Amino acid sequence: MMSIETADALREKVRQRYAEAALAAAEGEGCGCGTDSCCEGEGADFGEALYTLEERGELPQAAALASLGCGNPTAVAELLEGEVVLDLGSGGGIDVILSARRVGPSGVAYGLDMTEEMLELARRNVVQAGVQNVHLLRGAIENIPLPSGSVDVVISNCVINLSVDKAAVISEIARVLKPGGRIGISDVVAEDRLAAAQRAERGSYVGCIAGALSKSEYETGLEAAGLEDVSVAFTHEVADGMHGAIIKARKPLELHARRAPVA
Ligand SMILES: C[S@@+](CC[C@H](N)C(=O)[O-])C[C@H]1O[C@@H](n2cnc3c(N)ncnc32)[C@H](O)[C@@H]1O
Repeated sequence: MMSIETADALREKVRQRYAEAALAAAEGEGCGCGTDSCCEGEGADFGEALYTLEERGELPQAAALASLGCGNPTAVAELLEGEVVLDLGSGGGIDVILSARRVGPSGVAYGLDMTEEMLELARRNVVQAGVQNVHLLRGAIENIPLPSGSVDVVISNCVINLSVDKAAVISEIARVLKPGGRIGISDVVAEDRLAAAQRAERGSYVGCIAGALSKSEYETGLEAAGLEDVSVAFTHEVADGMHGAIIKARKPLELHARRAPVA
């Protein structure tokens, strides 16, 4: 566990980095991937290239350009009409907008982000996309401002690796999910052979590399939070032994039943 001082400093560094990325995107500039400006990697490893042409066609150009993710979580989450979706670290809004379209007017897509500049960018993109069922929330993914048992699907795209308290994020995900609810998350994940120091040799923390969990750390963390059907599947290598990955899990229906008083 890192010291509070280190954690606060790192969180502020992440916030500043993504505030700069949001302002650059608002000016029509790219995120500078491959540099220290945002998630590190080749152009095809991060951002809008991970979405189909059809999906990009559903988005304002500014939202697609602002994409800083390492996967396409809406594609893996198989969203249904009427569902409540929560996107952790929603950035410029690409996955919130796609989710809002998938769940339709009877559903809701929440986007949560701690960086005001990103929220402002997302607000503009949501208006331009013309979707009415999006709610953008300011806050930390370690302390989600939604009631327990209120969300059908938690998605996230290249954000959990940036958190300074991943155990808190996972426990919050388990709390806000409805019984039977699921996750469809894209993130950078390390092979188990890489110790934390070796991950840090391959890229920076704000660049989505140094803070990545290993595959077994992710699996163990999700299981410890009471989630089941956990899977972590690598999709593409972004650095030696580090991969874009799809993380899936489900909150058991029985979690409530187990807690209910025995008759
Ligand atoms: C790499 S960008 C990804 C943005 C978006 N998901 C996408 O695919 O384009 C990371 C985003 O997560 C946000 N973020 C990072 N750590 C966070 C935290 N602890 N709580 C809330 N938001 C966070 C940043 O402000 C930034 O918008």
